[in-house]
Amino acid sequence: MTDRPEPRRFRSRDWFADPERSDMTALYLERFMNYGLTPAELRSGRPIIGIAQTGSDLSPCNRIHLDLARRVREGIRDAGGIPMEFPVHPIFENCRRPTAALDRNLAYLGLVEILYGYPIDAVVLTTGCDKTTPAGIMAASTVDIPAIVLSGGPMLDGWHDGELVGSGTVIWRSRRQLAAGEIDEEEFMDRACSSAPSAGHCNTMGTASTMNAVAEALGLSLPGCAAIPAPYRERGQMAYETGKRIVEMAHEDLRPSRILTRESFLNALSVVSCAGGSSNAQVHIQAMARHAGVELHPSDWTTHGYALPLLVNMQPAGKYLGERFFRAGGVPAVMWELREAGKLHGDCHSVTGRSVGENVEGRQSRDREVILPFDAPLMTDAGFLVLSGNLFDFGIMKTSVIGESFRARYLQQPGHENVFEARAVVFEGSDDYHHRINDPALGIDENCILVMRGAGPIGWPGSAEVVNMQPPDALIQAGIRTLPTLGDGRQSGTADSPSILNASPESAVGGGLSWLATGDTIRIDLNTGSCNALVSEEEIARRKRELPAPPIPASHSPWEQLYREKTGQLADGATLDFALAYRRIAEKTPRH
Ligand code: FES
Ligand code: MG
Repeated sequence: MTDRPEPRRFRSRDWFADPERSDMTALYLERFMNYGLTPAELRSGRPIIGIAQTGSDLSPCNRIHLDLARRVREGIRDAGGIPMEFPVHPIFENCRRPTAALDRNLAYLGLVEILYGYPIDAVVLTTGCDKTTPAGIMAASTVDIPAIVLSGGPMLDGWHDGELVGSGTVIWRSRRQLAAGEIDEEEFMDRACSSAPSAGHCNTMGTASTMNAVAEALGLSLPGCAAIPAPYRERGQMAYETGKRIVEMAHEDLRPSRILTRESFLNALSVVSCAGGSSNAQVHIQAMARHAGVELHPSDWTTHGYALPLLVNMQPAGKYLGERFFRAGGVPAVMWELREAGKLHGDCHSVTGRSVGENVEGRQSRDREVILPFDAPLMTDAGFLVLSGNLFDFGIMKTSVIGESFRARYLQQPGHENVFEARAVVFEGSDDYHHRINDPALGIDENCILVMRGAGPIGWPGSAEVVNMQPPDALIQAGIRTLPTLGDGRQSGTADSPSILNASPESAVGGGLSWLATGDTIRIDLNTGSCNALVSEEEIARRKRELPAPPIPASHSPWEQLYREKTGQLADGATLDFALAYRRIAEKTPRH
């Protein structure tokens, strides 16, 4: 921790200690007094620390924060701060319809207004479920008050019949077994429930674990925070330490703008690549970088991440779950490997007041089965590949989940390494997929690629995790468990499908997928990063002229409409683009 500089005058003083307007000060004070805060305290000049509470009955993945907040408060009090907890708009991945992705930008907007419009000097961002992490960090960047991330931590490992069953991953795998007739419905339900044995977020390296690792890699949480399982003793201790540290950060004026740089975002991208993290990280990292005013290009994922090895043996790319990852050393051990290999920007600042390189000193892996050495990894060249061509300007493929049988079938044909052609079968969103996937008239065989359009930010709306489509039952029963897929939506971070995701621009705004037709041949070349439909320019022009545009569902709520009017494409982070013009807004206190 750094030395405490000269006492600061906090922005909350403008509310609670205005010498010109004692009548106003009294007004601001009168309700807060009733809740354990004395007027003297509020006027004392001590920092007011917000606790942005993302837990609620609607957000079970973050529910542990309802308990952890008590420990955060104790830390804040002990360090001389005044805690004030407030709710954040819920974001629950599994239940929110039409998709939780709508809520990232909504929670962002709400949080910006709270952090800016109330007397808050610094904030603890409680995070967990996928989008709660980027929503909080995006808002903290826009407002730019000192902010620290407290992850709620993953659930305990799930077990079923002596085997590890991980969040999400067990669903995708068991669905295929159900289709193959290997298990029945009851077994399927049993496994799903066993994968969620405690409080916490998903216990796989899905989007939640990935995004909390990202927060830590960015230097925004205390070292080791991301991986501690929610029910562990250490989680409460981390909450307390986080509360203490944010008070010091308030005094030091250690704001996100002093931590977030292009290099820190590249560190995050590297950690995601080595961890076999979620493809959703691409969208959220891009969004956070843009709100922080940092230049990050979508192609950075190939340039800086693709050649990195897979170091973390965790589902869906590997075997284990959150508890083993925590005991092996968690995110600091992954960053330690990167640092030793010269692949970490160790000088980047962090919430500790030290550099991220210093933070991971002495934190090497304690379990080589789970966090492997850089020079003896689970897989080499295991990062993300960015693709482009006549169907889209940007699409991304998570190569760490391309399995052996898929590689052998599509990517290792002599003379055609990493190049394959497949017949497109196009679906208009996931309802169409579910209705028609088993229709024999589609003639789906192992030479097909399943394509989904209408699943992007504008088309869905929000962009849904539906591109990880499984083959028709008959094909699964014949032993073909995965087909290549492509779409303008996303896929769950817990899925192990070899998919081309986040295609931008999406079909709903006239992207190439809008003219693609079932029966077209798509050629994918992973060597050059290209993906093209083998359709002539003339034919493309004819289809654009003559064929009706794919259907787009109407907006059903005011926010859906506003989201559609203002949100960009997945390649660019699907941000509310007008919001990018607002940065460091807390430098000016809002008017009376
Ligand atoms: Fe919330 Fe996975 S569904 S963390
Ligand atoms: Mg998800």
